[in-house]
Amino acid sequence: MDLEVELDTHFGIAHTRWATHGEPSALNSHPQRSDKNNAFVVIHNGIITNYKELKKYLNSKGYEFESETDTEVIPKLIKYVYDNREREDLSFSTLVERVIQQLEGAFALVFKSHYFPGEAVATRRGSPLLIGVRSKYELSAEHIPIQYNRYVIIKKVALFKVTSDTSGDGKAVEYYFASDASAIIEHTNKVIYLEDDDIAAVVGGKLSLHRLNSLAGENPVRAIQTLQMELQEIMKGNFEAFMQKEIFEQPESVFNTMRGRICFHTNKVILGGLKDHLKEIKRCRRLIVIGCGTSFHAAVATRQILEELTELPVMVELASDFLDRNTPVFRDDVCFYISQSGETADTLMALRYCKDRGALTVGVTNTVGSSISRDTDCGVHINAGPEIGVASTKAYTSQFVALIMFGLMMSEDRISLQPRRLEIINGLRILPDMIKKVLTLDNKIKSIADELYQQKSLLVMGRGFNYATCLEGALKIKEITYMHSEGILAGELKHGPLALIDKHMPVIMIIMKDACYTKCQNALQQVTARSGRPIILCCQDDQEMSKNAYKTIELPHTVDCLQGILSVIPLQLLSFHLAVLRGYDVSLPLPALSLWTLIT
Ligand code: F6R
Repeated sequence: MDLEVELDTHFGIAHTRWATHGEPSALNSHPQRSDKNNAFVVIHNGIITNYKELKKYLNSKGYEFESETDTEVIPKLIKYVYDNREREDLSFSTLVERVIQQLEGAFALVFKSHYFPGEAVATRRGSPLLIGVRSKYELSAEHIPIQYNRYVIIKKVALFKVTSDTSGDGKAVEYYFASDASAIIEHTNKVIYLEDDDIAAVVGGKLSLHRLNSLAGENPVRAIQTLQMELQEIMKGNFEAFMQKEIFEQPESVFNTMRGRICFHTNKVILGGLKDHLKEIKRCRRLIVIGCGTSFHAAVATRQILEELTELPVMVELASDFLDRNTPVFRDDVCFYISQSGETADTLMALRYCKDRGALTVGVTNTVGSSISRDTDCGVHINAGPEIGVASTKAYTSQFVALIMFGLMMSEDRISLQPRRLEIINGLRILPDMIKKVLTLDNKIKSIADELYQQKSLLVMGRGFNYATCLEGALKIKEITYMHSEGILAGELKHGPLALIDKHMPVIMIIMKDACYTKCQNALQQVTARSGRPIILCCQDDQEMSKNAYKTIELPHTVDCLQGILSVIPLQLLSFHLAVLRGYDVSLPLPALSLWTLIT
């Protein structure tokens, strides 16, 4: 590439993404291209599951591949479709339409081509994609219609009273394509959320949307929404990284999850998004709570209290495994989808799977307008505010609180459960202050990180209400410190994991004053008998623990089922400090996919 050449272009594409296929390298990064002349270039967020078959086919047609990515089949395929087109005047969006019919998996895609200068085409299936529109001129419409014309050059729909060709100031309209509103909010708060298989094209400064076929009952327009998100909400302020900022936001974020939903005078809990479905939920045969990663851990963390308050069997499921097993689902099941983004492909696929089987679907998401919040029958927004950090932190504690509020709402008329409900509601009332106290331990946790950061591995052990904290703490540690970490159920210690314990292996144990206290003490004895040097997360003033621990991190004591909200915070802080000490950049520079077009 000649870096000296000056380009006059008003459309650029860029993408930051985890390397999912092949090592992180220039060749494996995006955009991926069709050929050395960049006839077509593509950025992709998601995964193409049939890329091997497509690659084989394209190889057989003489197309040579240069990267190890799944994405590269897409620019190659569009070039193939273009090279074999039956008519000269096929539009760029028609080519894209033909390409996506061959793709399996999840994707948000943006295409650029030197055959179609200045044109942008974007589409999605299973991965999020939105369009931001910015103009200093007033919009002439609140929505744009979908064009269903197959193989017809699409009619252009003017969005603005003044369009590029009449303004004359060279900046009439700007369009931004991004996976998340936080990538573009500093430029515009007007957005259009695309649905699966929508194709958006910007041609000659005008945006049009179209689809291959209309489906029965489908909305024939896409609304232009005005987001209320504030820029400072997504800025990181004085913190070193978004993750750190979000950990420290938790007193406010959990408060916002409860705001207007729990009345601490009447002890009533009302989740507006669920109240019309409550009768149906109460009649169900079981609850199935589905998520991935951290969101799954929020389900594990609240399972026991949900069983207790709803008196229903509660299954917690990793979305991917749930699908792999073709799990039986019935019409009288209620399925919850926990997702910060509301866009996670496996969770979305599990949602579709359960919908097809007639179950009632409930979303618990942080992202208004996300696919999960739109596609579920009802739901709860956790209102934690935008989560920009790669590692999920405040969304976890807010999901936790939202699920507990659901349990409280379900148990309102159970007389025998009233003392328990009251105890939990009182615990929730002072939860933000308790979180503030835990956050004051930051310096102590940093000093523990100073001791641990050169270790290869870190085990986190606990049981009962704190088992989920072990899983979640270990996930945070692996994810951002690149250190091996494992969450171990203390009850399983004697069934194998004990073999890992010696004086060199760092172990964190979570031992709170709850029903599992004595059992956890047994586990502690087994660890110390093997010369382990446990760092114990325990309740304030627990003398017994201080005697046996290498170090303690003392936490305020709260109701057993809420303790996990407090005990996860030291592990979030620990993983942050470990990552910084190990030299990793914890902050996410940009959301997963960002691209902009500027049409003058
Ligand atoms: C971990 C993390 C991931 C997500 C998982 C699900 O820090 O961020 O494990 O929790 O990818 O994402 P959502 O909640 O958006 O469905």
